[in-house]
Amino acid sequence: MRAAVVVNRSWDFKFHLEKIAVMDLEIPSPGRGEVLVRVYASNINPVDHKIVELAGWSWTYPHKLGYDVAGVVQSVGVGCTRLKATSLMEAPTTAGTYAQYAVVSESILGVKPESISMLEAGAMPMVALTGLESLTWAAGGSQFGKNATVLVLGGSGGTGHMGIQLAKAMGASWIITTCSETHVDFVRQLGADQVIDYHKQNYYDVLLPESVDVVYDCVGLNGTGDHAFNIIKKHGSFVTLLQGAKASISTRLQRPDVHEYAPNCVGTCSQHQRIDTVASFVKEGKLTVHIDQVFGLEDIVKAFNQSLAGHTTGKVALQILGNESEILV
Ligand SMILES: NC(=O)c1ccc[n+]([C@@H]2O[C@H](COP(=O)([O-])OP(=O)(O)OC[C@H]3O[C@@H](n4cnc5c(N)ncnc54)[C@H](OP(=O)(O)O)[C@@H]3O)[C@@H](O)[C@H]2O)c1
Repeated sequence: MRAAVVVNRSWDFKFHLEKIAVMDLEIPSPGRGEVLVRVYASNINPVDHKIVELAGWSWTYPHKLGYDVAGVVQSVGVGCTRLKATSLMEAPTTAGTYAQYAVVSESILGVKPESISMLEAGAMPMVALTGLESLTWAAGGSQFGKNATVLVLGGSGGTGHMGIQLAKAMGASWIITTCSETHVDFVRQLGADQVIDYHKQNYYDVLLPESVDVVYDCVGLNGTGDHAFNIIKKHGSFVTLLQGAKASISTRLQRPDVHEYAPNCVGTCSQHQRIDTVASFVKEGKLTVHIDQVFGLEDIVKAFNQSLAGHTTGKVALQILGNESEILV
């Protein structure tokens, strides 16, 4: 099979595009509780390059990349009880989905809603599951309370555009977001009620102190927590996707009432029950994925380049197998 890999270790432990290649590898075999998926689509998440710096020292090479997948189960390993041949979307822990076949734990695969394409299904899992985890925590359950105001920082990117829609689907009554001017119409269409162009204004200057219930930070700049705590209402919540954006100790001492959470959703948020929750939002027409650009597997370096530029509108998708008429379900 063809697979995108990091060819060998970087001794500076950084991600280097010139170390990414597409090569022929053996089709893997599913072990206990695993299934072999014929991969139709995936996408680029920032973790797909950050992981090289975080874990690349411990890998054997060539190392396969890619977390999200949409595809069809080709065969099942010993001990699988839920799945046979079907179409799927999910976010696996073990990675290796930038390939024509991937082995994935059965427990984290969910059934793809019929209303979306394989390409869309392959672009959604990690960003949707991250939003679901973050906003469910912030809401203290599946729905926000009455008149909840949610600020999504970075509403036009992968996690941000899911965050706006999920906040709306979960009953938030006023959604504010930050983005560049070019993305204002995009985030409004997703459900944002108020948009702040971060190039022109700081959200913490525009918004009044103690005026929002939840800040969902999908950008993760240092110092964000300190700014965000000030605009969060009493007993409100700050969720950031980057540890470095958490509030300083002095801010937390001044505002002990604010709840703070920096989830690590890579892998840990992947459970088939959560995929089912995401799928139900999709089926109800409350959640769609916006695909900015589509690349083939052989163009993986171009796809990474697009994501690394940091201004993706929604997602950069990977089309690995093209013919949707082959899909059985
Ligand atoms: N903790 C976890 O479990 C977890 C899970 C998923 C992702 N993450 C992390 O979360 C971050 C976001 O991921 P992503 O997939 O959403 O990335 P992405 O799709 O690459 O996000 C790109 C977006 O960021 C926006 N942006 C950049 N600087 C901004 C700023 N100062 N203010 C507002 N928006 C800004 C850009 O908006 P404009 O183009 O409009 O300027 C662009 O649309 C990454 O660092 C990723 O590693 C963490």
